[in-house]
Amino acid sequence: MDLNLNGQKVAVFGAAQGIGRAIAEQFLAEGCEVVGFDRSASAAPLHQPGDITVGDVTALDQVEAFARNHPDTRHVVYSVGMGSGKFGFPFWNLDPTDWPEVLQVNLIGAVNVAHAFAPGLTAAQSGSILFLSSVAGQIGSPTDPPYSAAKAGLINFMQVVAKDFAPYQVRANALSPGMVKTDLNESVWAAGQSNLPPEKQQDYATWAEAKIRSISPLGNWQTPKEFAAMATFLASDHARNITGQTLNIDGGHVMHS
Ligand SMILES: NC(=O)c1ccc[n+]([C@@H]2O[C@H](COP(=O)([O-])OP(=O)(O)OC[C@H]3O[C@@H](n4cnc5c(N)ncnc54)[C@H](O)[C@@H]3O)[C@@H](O)[C@H]2O)c1
Repeated sequence: MDLNLNGQKVAVFGAAQGIGRAIAEQFLAEGCEVVGFDRSASAAPLHQPGDITVGDVTALDQVEAFARNHPDTRHVVYSVGMGSGKFGFPFWNLDPTDWPEVLQVNLIGAVNVAHAFAPGLTAAQSGSILFLSSVAGQIGSPTDPPYSAAKAGLINFMQVVAKDFAPYQVRANALSPGMVKTDLNESVWAAGQSNLPPEKQQDYATWAEAKIRSISPLGNWQTPKEFAAMATFLASDHARNITGQTLNIDGGHVMHS
């Protein structure tokens, strides 16, 4: 299918690795000009040196400067995320002081990005913004309560953005991954193991195999490329009537919960 995205500029937040990296590479493959933003300074360039700006999404001035440098951006992807590094079950295994940074990175960072790009997108009267949320934001997952709450807030904010952007023919959507083998997912395993006595601890591969079978009717891990395929489709005119939606790419996890 020809997505007709050739030559359009795309900004990907969280482009250094994982799902964001795969999305950035897929837009490049579609002939887009892709610029990345990530707090990691060690990532290889996407296409040419310097095409990933090192910065922190929680710093509004850094996000605004990036948006000013790329006023012709037509599509924005927010694939930044982090967990608390602690395990719930119950929520009071965490401390209230564990919440602010998780809310800042998963939710306020996305708010910063939407504010910074709103003037350019609405003036262009075309384009899209896509937020990476999570199944955790839809099912009150006790695994990492501040992460769940931030992802639920992100879905709600996406719906606000979709309504406010609609008169300008700019669309907003969210993707909800279930389980993807990335550093973020491995950090969930590590946090859970630290709560267990040594005889109950499992290596990542064993934990991952059991986990995916218990939560997903299809029983498959999702891969970053599946999100990349959906992200490029949603940016294209084939999706010109899709806005305000949360698409679960989760092997049926949310349906099953
Ligand atoms: N991997 C999964 O199983 C899974 C499940 C549900 C949702 N998600 C969501 O998908 C998105 C991508 O996750 P991933 O698995 O690729 O994670 P990842 O950890 O591999 O990548 C996240 C990227 O965000 C960057 N980042 C983190 N904090 C930042 C900050 N303050 N400023 C700028 N950059 C920052 C990191 O450097 C990294 O490159 C996230 O929003 C995550 O919450 C992932």
